[in-house]
Amino acid sequence: MQNIVVVGGCGFIGANFIHLVLRERPDIAILNLDALTYAGNLANLEDVSSNPRLRFCRVDIGDRAALEKALENETFSAVVNFAAETHVDRSILGPDAFVRTNILGTSHLLDIVRKRQGIRLLQVSTDEVYGSLGDDGAFTEQTPIQPSSPYSASKASADLLVQAYHHTFGLDAVITRCSNNYGPYQFPEKLIPLMIINARSGKPLPVYGSGGNVRDWIHVEDHCRGVLVALERGRSGEVYNFGGAAERRNIDIVHAIADRLCGNRDLVRFVQDRPGHDWRYAMDFQKAATQLDWAPRYAFDAGLQATMDWYIANEAWWQAVLNQEYRDYYERLYGKR
Ligand SMILES: NC(=O)c1ccc[n+]([C@@H]2O[C@H](COP(=O)([O-])OP(=O)(O)OC[C@H]3O[C@@H](n4cnc5c(N)ncnc54)[C@H](O)[C@@H]3O)[C@@H](O)[C@H]2O)c1
Repeated sequence: MQNIVVVGGCGFIGANFIHLVLRERPDIAILNLDALTYAGNLANLEDVSSNPRLRFCRVDIGDRAALEKALENETFSAVVNFAAETHVDRSILGPDAFVRTNILGTSHLLDIVRKRQGIRLLQVSTDEVYGSLGDDGAFTEQTPIQPSSPYSASKASADLLVQAYHHTFGLDAVITRCSNNYGPYQFPEKLIPLMIINARSGKPLPVYGSGGNVRDWIHVEDHCRGVLVALERGRSGEVYNFGGAAERRNIDIVHAIADRLCGNRDLVRFVQDRPGHDWRYAMDFQKAATQLDWAPRYAFDAGLQATMDWYIANEAWWQAVLNQEYRDYYERLYGKR
């Protein structure tokens, strides 16, 4: 049995990754470390909580002593780091937690891994570190890092630390950068679940600016498969881009959700644009295709339909998440609507 540590496994992508590994890699056992912030949710792993190949420990990676203690008696061959503060809007409202978890927390993980032998660290990063594109082109792994938001700057800082540890100490590290994910268990502050839940609840659908900003969308399972093959076959010190080959304007996504769930677009409300809003992201993932034999399996339209189905079938999951903290945050961002 191979033991790996998954950090941030109670969040959206981490939980989907744990489900995938338990399903498809019977020889891997997982220790899941997570601080259970507002975005971390044990319910995301409820159906696998009695699996003997999964253990959980609540720990904050910003707390070095607690992290060292959690790992001191553990033997493992890899660490996959999903843990982060992840929402751009929250990073604009208050960046401190982003600096603490995304930069300091990653440096704690790097130091712990460096002091042991034979451990690979996979850092889960984002296309947002590359900054914003105009109407043409796509990010490659050679695109210079030029983050725009406090969130993306903190993720880029973590990437630079990972690369420095590989270069300076020979640490076995791989970085994956992925475009916008969607799918089951995504916290409702993010575009697709926010629109699905508001549309289901008959609430306004707030769209930033003109709604013309473009993102590349990837189903979370495709991203998780990418992380898994990069962990297993990625070359040490390398960066791998993953994308869904599905560029869409925000407004087109909102319309698709409204059409299916409301039957009209009357709930769409254009709101003041996000400060410094990146215009467009697109990913060139040729390197992952060639070196890792990876390609996205989901077509966007089918993936979006499946995601809407999931949220309709799992209303109890998202109703439980819409607590007072979330309502306060929502009101601060969008006002009472
Ligand atoms: N969601 C996307 O579209 C996307 C795209 C590309 C890359 N990423 C990256 O993937 C990773 C996972 O994203 P997600 O959407 O699942 O995020 P998420 O916000 O849903 O989950 C983050 C998880 O990290 C945990 N966490 C936060 N701070 C922690 C701390 N100090 N110590 C331990 N655990 C902590 C939370 O409790 C939560 O379980 C992040 O690193 C993010 O930057 C996300």
